[in-house]
Amino acid sequence: MAHLIAPSILSSDFANLQQEVEMINNSEADWFHIDVMDGVFVSNLTFGMPVIKAIKRYAEKPFDVHLMIVEPDKFIDDFADAGADILTVHYEVCPHLHRSIQQIKAAGMKAGVSLNPHTNICLLEDVIADLDLVLIMSVNPGFGGQSFIENTYQKVKELKKLIKSKGSKALIEIDGGVSSANARKLIDCGADVLVAGSFIFKSEDPSKTISELKAV
Ligand code: DX5
Ligand code: ZN
Repeated sequence: MAHLIAPSILSSDFANLQQEVEMINNSEADWFHIDVMDGVFVSNLTFGMPVIKAIKRYAEKPFDVHLMIVEPDKFIDDFADAGADILTVHYEVCPHLHRSIQQIKAAGMKAGVSLNPHTNICLLEDVIADLDLVLIMSVNPGFGGQSFIENTYQKVKELKKLIKSKGSKALIEIDGGVSSANARKLIDCGADVLVAGSFIFKSEDPSKTISELKAV
């Protein structure tokens, strides 16, 4: 499978969200990556259901929603209603992770789990077969524009091994500090989906940068 590109709208121009959505529609991007933060799990706040619903009216590609919030179970149905296609929760805030995954699927979405940089891959052993996606954080979550953590390559390789050994169909997504400098190596290690925020939106021609990432 060719790798997928998911631009993170966190780094886009919020005063012109409709134009940003249309740029992504018309680009080679595969998904919209949407970062929801609550100021508790991470020390930043972004947006929630009303904004997701609003941009859903214009978006023509799947919504990959990354929840950086505590107690995500409370909001699973709300995110489904708002238009999430893939819903990813953080391992670190889900004491009943198996149930959370089942709830996401029961709400009609694909289920993802994200791991912070310090969270070991082996902790997913008992749920990997049920997952559609694993998001490896390659920075500490909370902000765009941070530097890529090099240990990520090793984690991607370990996760790939685990996925194979358990016959899982989960895609491997990498989020944080992704650029054309590390994209090829990540894919060679086993990554399927690359999220990129500042590298795309701070570039001179975001659509061209998306093509660049798609072509690595
Ligand atoms: C960070 C978010 C990322 C962020 C990535 O917590 O999960 O999706 O937007 O931004 P860059 O690509 O700038 O590191
Ligand atoms: Zn994200």
